[in-house]
Amino acid sequence: MIKVVVFDAYDTLFDVTAAARRVAGEPGRAALVGIWPRVAQDWRRKQLEYAWLRTVMGAKADFLTVTEAGLDWALDAAGLADAGLRARLLALYRELDAFPEARSALERVRASGVATAMLSNGSAEMLDAAVRSAGLTGLFDAVLSVESVGAFKPATAAYDLVGEHFAVAATEVRYVTSNGWDAAGASRYGFDTVWVNRAAEPMDRVPWRPARVLHDLSGVPDLEENP
Ligand code: LAC
Repeated sequence: MIKVVVFDAYDTLFDVTAAARRVAGEPGRAALVGIWPRVAQDWRRKQLEYAWLRTVMGAKADFLTVTEAGLDWALDAAGLADAGLRARLLALYRELDAFPEARSALERVRASGVATAMLSNGSAEMLDAAVRSAGLTGLFDAVLSVESVGAFKPATAAYDLVGEHFAVAATEVRYVTSNGWDAAGASRYGFDTVWVNRAAEPMDRVPWRPARVLHDLSGVPDLEENP
């Protein structure tokens, strides 16, 4: 029986492209207009690569550090090394838009009597800012940051945080993520995993597959018990 639904944060609840998209629409940012999607994509890709590298190497850092490093790479690749632009993008990363269906999905899961939580690589401070700015305060029974374990997802120690907090077995957890690699890690860990495949990407070629695939969060509250 599912006792808690756990959501990944970035790209699942919060739109990680929102910072670059918003800045591209601001006065004086003509240089970003045509290329912000590529900057956002590079930023996300390198942020995750650095998180995985540091975890494999045991070289601890918080998510803000790898987020800043990923942005520096993306701006350099775009020929946009501009301190003011960097500061603006990082400021907006703290207040990313939630996806439009996020609030109602969370409310409907909670209305069904199931606990809700967030499990993220983000630092506690980053997640607190994101939840508040997106207006999602009060919709989580727990906001869990991997900061306390010093390893990023998909490290087992990161997923362990859920059972440690809620005293539940992995099979009692539904884990929801838009990241294919995170869906693989959570499936391997033993969670009932939902991949929110917003970009209609191919399934990753790894042995661990999500129990379900949705196109956004709206279907999460309607899912029946474990497959
Ligand atoms: C997170 C990123 C990895 O929120 O999506 O953990």
